[in-house]
Amino acid sequence: MATDAAASSAPLPRFPDGFLWGVSTSAHQIEGAADEREPSVWDVFSAGPGRIKDGSTAAVACDHVRRHREDVALLAGLGVDAYRFSVSWPRVASPGGLDFYDRLVDDLCAAGVRPVPTLFHWDLPARLDWRERDTAARFARYVSQVAGRLGDRVTKWITLNEPAEHTLLGHALGVHAPGERLLFDALPVAHHQLLAHGLAVRALRAAGARDIGIANSHGPTWPASREADDVAAADFYDTLLNRLFADPLLLGHYPAGLGELMPGDVEADLEIIAEPLDWYGINYYAPARVGAPQGDESDHGGVRIPAGMPFSLRGIEGYPVTDFGWPVVPEGLTELLTGFRDRYGDRLPPVVVTENGCSYEGLDDQDRIAYLDGHLRALHRALEAGVDVRGYFVWSLLDNWEWAEGYARRFGLVHVDRTTLERTPKASYAWLRGALREQRRG
Ligand code: BGC
Repeated sequence: MATDAAASSAPLPRFPDGFLWGVSTSAHQIEGAADEREPSVWDVFSAGPGRIKDGSTAAVACDHVRRHREDVALLAGLGVDAYRFSVSWPRVASPGGLDFYDRLVDDLCAAGVRPVPTLFHWDLPARLDWRERDTAARFARYVSQVAGRLGDRVTKWITLNEPAEHTLLGHALGVHAPGERLLFDALPVAHHQLLAHGLAVRALRAAGARDIGIANSHGPTWPASREADDVAAADFYDTLLNRLFADPLLLGHYPAGLGELMPGDVEADLEIIAEPLDWYGINYYAPARVGAPQGDESDHGGVRIPAGMPFSLRGIEGYPVTDFGWPVVPEGLTELLTGFRDRYGDRLPPVVVTENGCSYEGLDDQDRIAYLDGHLRALHRALEAGVDVRGYFVWSLLDNWEWAEGYARRFGLVHVDRTTLERTPKASYAWLRGALREQRRG
């Protein structure tokens, strides 16, 4: 659906010197070459009937493993400082799997683009399970292996991507891999990922890393009304999305009432989970409007919240929407960042926006330009309000395999032809390149 949003013709405000500009991708969504690695939970899940909207799998995706040189050239041409990609644990676990990342990192360094790997972006080896505590220890061993190989060239690391979505969509609601519908019994999955994060921070530091963050998804939660039951439901949702994965990391404890539901020696684990971070990554897409349960399931951006949950998701009116139906609310980013600073104060390390972007069709993607322009202005307002933001990464470099949506959603600055896999930079690519040049001109 088209929007009536338009990019401002005024130049973007000036961001601080040293601000890190980048784009993001993830392994399962772009790599392909699925036969050269062991299966992940996503391979198993997407093979099942009716799980992926267009019936596709990511077996080929953008064929990035074979075409990575071309993709590195696109990054260099765009003029970004950094590239956030993810390392596939199933590939690293397969013979020669690390060789690919070794080459990718070499090529990025040669092109003057700083590699920023995420060590887990939802593609767990299919033989493993986050309900098992041991998965956290295995993750730390895999992280040591990756750091041992890449740590001479990689200095900035991200442990996990969005454990909240992975828990909620994959383990509680079953719309993502591994497709479990555990509802609140999925909480151990949250705890084990957080424990894996803490152990990974320790493993990375032991390997000499000094610049470590996590990428968590967050968004403002707006109550459907001022009625007490809507406000209580919105608070509850805010706790799940914004605090369950941030309080343990930044404050060293779970939000009230949740620690008791976690497995194992939670107090001892929290000491590991709360290892100080060098920076905190935030993925922002849109706010959520939340109200009291309505006795029926509710739908939010394709995610069905079953009846019986203590909240329901409502539509957000009055804003343009992306092709995914997500509202475009740039000021939500200012609200989120200032709200985070107010909530966590000096416990919040410098922030990096590790994902922000939108799905639109077409090469002349003026909607995407308007989206990015609006969000960068909103980000600048957070800087002016005193939030210490150090970087911004667009989701995504390439049109890719958008999980349960398959190839139907196009988030890329670069169009990828589904048949030929040919890459064509969109209007937004040229716009961002121009905006980055302007920033450097000062
Ligand atoms: C994820 C990406 C995904 C994007 C758009 C984020 O939640 O980290 O993998 O493609 O949102 O849905």
